[in-house]
Amino acid sequence: MVRKIRLYGDPVLETPCAPIPEEELGTPELKQLVDDMFETMYQAKGVGLAAPQIGEAKRLFIVDCSAGEEPEERIVLINPEILETKGEQVGEEGCLSIPGFRDNVRRPYRVKARAWTPDGEVIEVEGEELLARAILHENDHLNGVLFLKHLSTLKREMIKRKIKALRKKGEWD
Ligand code: NI
Repeated sequence: MVRKIRLYGDPVLETPCAPIPEEELGTPELKQLVDDMFETMYQAKGVGLAAPQIGEAKRLFIVDCSAGEEPEERIVLINPEILETKGEQVGEEGCLSIPGFRDNVRRPYRVKARAWTPDGEVIEVEGEELLARAILHENDHLNGVLFLKHLSTLKREMIKRKIKALRKKGEWD
């Protein structure tokens, strides 16, 4: 089921998420949540989505840098831990919860993370370039952090003002 994507201003996006308890791993409810997240992300043409973006303050995110083209690029990380980051990259970033706004963000070039799969297996994922960027962006969501936080104060305030204006016109919901 496609779920409603929460937009910037919704408090769930700025709340640190709770870990998913081990007993929820492998349950149909968790699998359904993951399926809903993929459906929602693909419909919105995103390459990553974190659970709080659909209103679930849980430490879970998905990434698919192929945007649905390559099944083996589907990644689901539950209660992820960033083990290591290396290097640096600057690239344009956006967020499905902040539609219409993109800006350059500096991130590590490479990342290694450990997490649970929905079935309760422990996996390690390594990524670079776009995949590293996506993993780190989504991991930020689990801590209630949006990419705006990585921008200069000037840019951040400019975007916030524009969003405020959109909200007044009823175009931000
Ligand atoms: Ni995002």
